[in-house]
Amino acid sequence: MSTRYQEVTASLQTDPKTWLITGCAGFIGSNLLEALLSMDQKVVGLDNFATGHQYNLDEVERTVTPQQWANFTFQEGDIRDLDACHAAVKGVDYVLHQAALGSVPRSLQDPITTNAVNIDGFLNMLVAARDEAVQSFVYAASSSTYGDHEALPKVEENIGRPLSPYAVTKYVNELYADVFTRSYGFGSIGLRYFNVFGKRQDPNGAYAAVIPKWVAAMIRGEDVVVNGDGETSRDFCFIDNVVQANILAALAQPEGINQVYNVAFNARTSLTELFEYLAKALGNNGIVYDKPPVYSDFRAGDVRHSQADISKAKQLLGYEPVHNIVQGLEVSMPWYTQFLR
Ligand SMILES: NC(=O)c1ccc[n+]([C@@H]2O[C@H](COP(=O)([O-])OP(=O)(O)OC[C@H]3O[C@@H](n4cnc5c(N)ncnc54)[C@H](O)[C@@H]3O)[C@@H](O)[C@H]2O)c1
Repeated sequence: MSTRYQEVTASLQTDPKTWLITGCAGFIGSNLLEALLSMDQKVVGLDNFATGHQYNLDEVERTVTPQQWANFTFQEGDIRDLDACHAAVKGVDYVLHQAALGSVPRSLQDPITTNAVNIDGFLNMLVAARDEAVQSFVYAASSSTYGDHEALPKVEENIGRPLSPYAVTKYVNELYADVFTRSYGFGSIGLRYFNVFGKRQDPNGAYAAVIPKWVAAMIRGEDVVVNGDGETSRDFCFIDNVVQANILAALAQPEGINQVYNVAFNARTSLTELFEYLAKALGNNGIVYDKPPVYSDFRAGDVRHSQADISKAKQLLGYEPVHNIVQGLEVSMPWYTQFLR
């Protein structure tokens, strides 16, 4: 029996669509781009290279065929500019809105810019998508919206108070999306990603995510610094699962629209376990890392434990994540070892 995802991708291949990916030069955006071009879709990309990179786009170009690459149009622009949003959305069937400034510490450092991009920019994209009457609008929400709500696993309806400016912005996105449904009948879907990882996730800079940061340190033989006691846990989600969720969401049935969904694997991995998985996966790729981790202070704004209930996405979208953390790391490691040396 075929899965909903197999049905959806087969229908897209027989009847290709035009997609807009905002943030297409970033980690998640460039993986969405690669997946959609590989399915012979037409894609428009919008990015201002704030945290994304031309080399991510170049890598996608090398991965797909020249004919598939010819289906991609890039518009360099800023989502804080409403005209740029309108220009990008024009003639598009589906929007996958990924552009934002990620990172809890960045938002604590500079809440004003995070607010401008993540809230003003989001609102511009909603307005542009509504005006151009796109068929669907899927946006990157965040597990940070659960804030100080301690119950596990996280269920979409039960959220706490945000713990950082970043979390506020992602929650405000959900409120705006909801009010656009009530006020203008413009439907959308929010995907609350839980700690996504995979190729092209940026290992550099003060705001790098834990997996690429640690892998880069291990490959270079440097210390791995654990914030806190190592028992902090996350529901790490491999990028292919996120790509699947976006495509399913864009083509959701009517009962699946105007909703937010957890996008994760539904497993909890502590930072100490993560350290062990990474060292083992690197070992399988010929790189031995035998230093113990270095423990330091807890990081402000971080939630202690995180694990998602993913039954809503399974039921309403047909989401079936295929890679758990160990399998995802196995797939990603050859890329890390090739590019992070
Ligand atoms: N990576 C995760 O674990 C995770 C978890 C939860 C939510 N998210 C959300 O997923 C989305 C993608 O995250 P990512 O990990 O790929 O981050 P990323 O930084 O790699 O990608 C974000 C992209 O958006 C672009 N961008 C930023 N500001 C822009 C602006 N003003 N105008 C146009 N483009 C702009 C950046 O240049 C970059 O290419 C973000 O909305 C993020 O908040 C990510």
